Amino acid sequence: VKEIIFKLLSYLAKNQHAKVASVGSSVFFGPFSKINNKNSREHIKFGNNISFYGKIINLENGTVVIGDNTTVRYNTIIECVNQVVIGKNVIISNNIIITDNDSHPVSFRQRENLSLTNHEGEEWSWNNAKNSPVFIQDNVWIGRNCMILKGVNIGKGSVIAAGTVLTKSVPPYSLCFGNPCVIKEGKYLE
Ligand SMILES: CC(C)(COP(=O)(O)OP(=O)(O)OC[C@H]1O[C@@H](n2cnc3c(N)ncnc32)[C@H](O)[C@@H]1OP(=O)(O)O)[C@@H](O)C(=O)NCCC(=O)NCCS
Repeated sequence: VKEIIFKLLSYLAKNQHAKVASVGSSVFFGPFSKINNKNSREHIKFGNNISFYGKIINLENGTVVIGDNTTVRYNTIIECVNQVVIGKNVIISNNIIITDNDSHPVSFRQRENLSLTNHEGEEWSWNNAKNSPVFIQDNVWIGRNCMILKGVNIGKGSVIAAGTVLTKSVPPYSLCFGNPCVIKEGKYLE
């Protein structure tokens, strides 16, 4: 019975997501996957042979692209106002936040104005925070519990170790770990 419910929820998720995203062939959506897209379908693009268990929140005018043969696991959230581009053959593990924006402004005066509202509405738009595109190149692996923040470009073939907070770009074929993160450039050339 569990298996049937799982399949049914996945099927319903796929139907739902295909209304708000452009979906290639052989794309599997996990039963609790979610896509919140305020824009046209072309703003969220899935290639082919993808399994996606996570959540995409695109409440402004952003674009999310996920390349062929990539997997995004449970409880991973992609937040976008600008651009998040994920390449081919990428493994994105559980409990990861990938965001191209800071959610709130850093100026205390601006945040005070937010705090004087009822904590929702246009003032709270992520557009009012700093943002910059995120790129995750082909063959990258991101371990559990990482945060990938605005403006980061993870080079081809790199591995981001479990629990890393990334605020800076990573060269190709590197290992990156910790917070503040340490980069071992070219560790995984093979
Ligand atoms: C990224 C990972 C695969 C690297 O493995 P590895 O190539 O064997 O790397 P090593 O164990 O040789 O570690 C190299 C260095 O990175 C450090 N390091 C590795 N992972 C780390 C982490 N998550 N946090 C902090 N430091 C870490 C090691 O302590 C070592 O430091 P040193 O050079 O000062 O001795 C592994 O550390 C990891 O994070 N595994 C979990 C992956 C995961 O989340 N899987 C979930 C399913 S997708």
